[in-house]
Amino acid sequence: MAFTSCTDTFTLRNAVGIPCIGYGTFETPADTARKAVREALEVGYRHIDTAAVYGNQQGVGEGIRDSAIPRASIFLTSKLWNTERGYDATMAAFDKTLNELGTDYLDLYLIHWPANRKQYGDRAEELNAETWRAFEELYSSGRVKAIGVSNFLPHHLQALESTATVKPMVDQIEVHPGWPQAEAVAYCQAHGIQVEAWGPFGHKDVLNDPTLVAIGKKHGKSSAQVCVRWALQHNVLPLPKSVHADRMKANMNVFDFELNDTEIAAIDALQGIGGSCANPDEVDF
Ligand SMILES: NC(=O)c1ccc[n+]([C@@H]2O[C@H](COP(=O)([O-])OP(=O)(O)OC[C@H]3O[C@@H](n4cnc5c(N)ncnc54)[C@H](OP(=O)(O)O)[C@@H]3O)[C@@H](O)[C@H]2O)c1
Repeated sequence: MAFTSCTDTFTLRNAVGIPCIGYGTFETPADTARKAVREALEVGYRHIDTAAVYGNQQGVGEGIRDSAIPRASIFLTSKLWNTERGYDATMAAFDKTLNELGTDYLDLYLIHWPANRKQYGDRAEELNAETWRAFEELYSSGRVKAIGVSNFLPHHLQALESTATVKPMVDQIEVHPGWPQAEAVAYCQAHGIQVEAWGPFGHKDVLNDPTLVAIGKKHGKSSAQVCVRWALQHNVLPLPKSVHADRMKANMNVFDFELNDTEIAAIDALQGIGGSCANPDEVDF
């Protein structure tokens, strides 16, 4: 990893560059999102992650426009919510997302969660394929620069890839110390899929872990900065969220230190220290 700033990019399989740290907006209320996103762009983020279900796309779009940063310099991701699966519903949901964000294209659009067998039985794979057909069309039309999935495990990816014309470029999954998802990360990395880490702080649960705090102390860094750096050193793209400008800044200030192999191994070995650790095959939303 040779990154020196959060605007340095990973390269997706279609040659699109994606800034190596994204700014998360989950649970950022609609009325806070405008200011938070403007501040995130002002402190230097150029990659914003939202989703239809967060209910804040309008504020995210306003924050982008309030900043002095041209739209073309910002990498903007949104996600299709679970109630909108299938070809027609996906097309309509995408239009609504663009409308709420006030933009005419997305940089990345993701299926937020796979349809699973628990909810959809034998129809699950077919439904994911049908949703993906709409994603492929949106991609071919140029209205979205890259397409991908979220919370897909290797078996969901294998099923999708068996019928896809365009292979997913990204899988956004929960990854943080204590929940490294090594198998899913290895699968994606072997198949040209960029992994993004949602909940890089385990939704802040992992930040008091003594191992992370001690490793941070050795480098003059916080446990949060250790989490971000650990993801990057695994070639995983972290999406830290904070509504506080000082934390936004600190969370991207990770390019002046390096975790050594012993530290990486100690963090890799952590278990059960927080986060949701949800199994996408078991969720019922
Ligand atoms: N695809 C999916 O299914 C999915 C699911 C969840 C999240 N996501 C994406 O991933 C992003 C990140 O995940 P997340 O928001 O769940 O959790 P996270 O980034 O792991 O943690 C955010 C929490 O940590 C706190 N925090 C941030 N920086 C801190 C620091 N330096 N020191 C102490 N506390 C700090 C934040 O509080 P303050 O805001 O008060 O600072 C917030 O409570 C989301 O925002 C969203 O964009 C995707």
